[in-house]
Amino acid sequence: YDLDPLQDFCVAVPDQVSAVFVNGKLCKNPKLVTVDDFLGFGFHLPGKFAAPTGFSVTVGDVNSIPGLNTQGLTLIRVDIEPNGVVPPHTHPRATEVIVLLEGTIYAGFVTSNPPDGSKNRLFAKVLKAGDMFVFPIGMVHFQRNVGKTKAMGIVAFNSQNPGIISVANSVFGTEPHISPELLTKSFQLDNKTIDYLFSKF
Ligand code: GLV
Ligand code: MN
Repeated sequence: YDLDPLQDFCVAVPDQVSAVFVNGKLCKNPKLVTVDDFLGFGFHLPGKFAAPTGFSVTVGDVNSIPGLNTQGLTLIRVDIEPNGVVPPHTHPRATEVIVLLEGTIYAGFVTSNPPDGSKNRLFAKVLKAGDMFVFPIGMVHFQRNVGKTKAMGIVAFNSQNPGIISVANSVFGTEPHISPELLTKSFQLDNKTIDYLFSKF
């Protein structure tokens, strides 16, 4: 999905403190590039579990593997505890594919609002080890471990910077808060509930 590279590779160098390179990162001088620029590691281990959701990610992106710069690809390992969830979220710049390697999860996505005013459609399914599932670009999606053992999968994105927008955090966890008057009316909730949600995200 990212634009095609115009050279064999463009191994990333860290962002400059005072400047942002808009499409990807600056390229290392090819003469200084080594094989380790293309090597990622640590995927045999889960990442840090985030309470209270109960999932963790091990990220293989351009920040950990500089050779991914301009290649249009990010991989993560996701681990989910029994009853743990990956809360509803969307990636603005990438299609996502999950290959479930261990466990059983309920996974799904929701379509955008139909122009005829009918309801958003839910596409959801229980996946077992060996199943692969596609989350189309931009769609709100989620996962829950519905098995008795931990679930683990490898997730691929067709962007080096897929981005993540958590539904709850982007509405109730902003800095500063969105006006409570707007939120009570938008979500048909009272002030107390909005304050409660502010305290949670
Ligand atoms: C990560 O983005 C996931 O949906 O598991
Ligand atoms: Mn996702």
